[in-house]
Amino acid sequence: MPSNLLDVYPQLPFEPVSAEGSHLLTAKGRWILDLYGGHAVASLGYGHPRVVETLARQAKELTFQTNAVPLKIRERAAERLAAFAPTGLNQVFFVNSGAEANENALRLAFLGNKGKKVVAVEHGFHGRTAAAGAVTWGAAGKWYAFPQTPFPVSFIPQNRADGLFSIDEDTAAVIVEPVQGMAGAVDLDAAFLKALRERCDETGALLIFDEVQCGMGRTGFGFAAELVDVVPDILTTAKSIAAGFPVGAVLMSDAVARRARWGSLGTTFGGGPMACALVETVIDVIDSEGLLQHVRNVSSLIRSTCVVGPIKKIQGAGFLLGLVCHINASIVRDDLLKHDILVGTSADPFVLRVMPPLNLPEKHVGELSRALAACAASTT
Ligand SMILES: Cc1ncc(COP(=O)(O)O)c(C=O)c1O
Repeated sequence: MPSNLLDVYPQLPFEPVSAEGSHLLTAKGRWILDLYGGHAVASLGYGHPRVVETLARQAKELTFQTNAVPLKIRERAAERLAAFAPTGLNQVFFVNSGAEANENALRLAFLGNKGKKVVAVEHGFHGRTAAAGAVTWGAAGKWYAFPQTPFPVSFIPQNRADGLFSIDEDTAAVIVEPVQGMAGAVDLDAAFLKALRERCDETGALLIFDEVQCGMGRTGFGFAAELVDVVPDILTTAKSIAAGFPVGAVLMSDAVARRARWGSLGTTFGGGPMACALVETVIDVIDSEGLLQHVRNVSSLIRSTCVVGPIKKIQGAGFLLGLVCHINASIVRDDLLKHDILVGTSADPFVLRVMPPLNLPEKHVGELSRALAACAASTT
């Protein structure tokens, strides 16, 4: 069928028309267990009554106003998010996406810092806008079509102490995903992340944790920062934060916040009331339904039962898991889809990503392990 949509995404072979709980219903009447959540966005699955109620209530009350006016719901969302985050990240700026959050985090890092370059970690992904693309591994040579990066960037290897010396007095910021999502759910060593913190303290660089994919409860902790016991100066998050509504956030320490003035950052849609109401609800549901503990429990079950068929090991944390395959991961993904289970691929051709809703019922783990064991591709 001819389409007016720009053709930039390969399409999965089904069309979801509605959804319930952890399942998508396709146009052809198939129910698919969704362990991918639209790139880790559907954090409470589909049709959660609190999400539905929040959307309806807030739409009736006030659909939109900008940061130019004070809103109680924005204040409350910021307060809940700061309380959900590691101690010390008190100030919040709401935006609309992960890339926008990183773009603003990097801008904050350059504000009032004499450093002129940024250090990033190999295999990290930070988004497709100019600054976020510049610090994304593998974008070199094309920078998502931009002719050059807006600032110099150097990449250091994962988990290796020798890279730390690239961080010097000329470094404004170091940006890192504590669990690298697109790379295949690679959980970086806590010791490495602690060493980054120490080196940033020595040189005056700001440490930015990009928790766009691994944050908001996905690791079984509020943020991965808690899991590795490192507090960054700035933390960005998005994806799971509003259960499907486009929201991003930049959290920062008071010291970083003092660099900003009126006009330093801006956004039209960021911090709108619908978005903020959902942020408040998502945190409320994570707390009231005990979802952090649930993620840790069910993640352990996946780890202990799903190294079967084509899977040789599992990496990552919580519900950001990388299933490392003996064979090409896209073959396994296609095979699982024949069993009505959707998982994601990653930048690593041998790693599948499993990023289910935080409230995934435990009973579905058996379906995944049985489908993996039955995976026709595992014997080839
Ligand atoms: C770690 C990380 N940072 C940033 C982004 C960019 O987020 P967005 O696509 O919302 O701009 C992504 C998206 O996958 C991501 O995984």
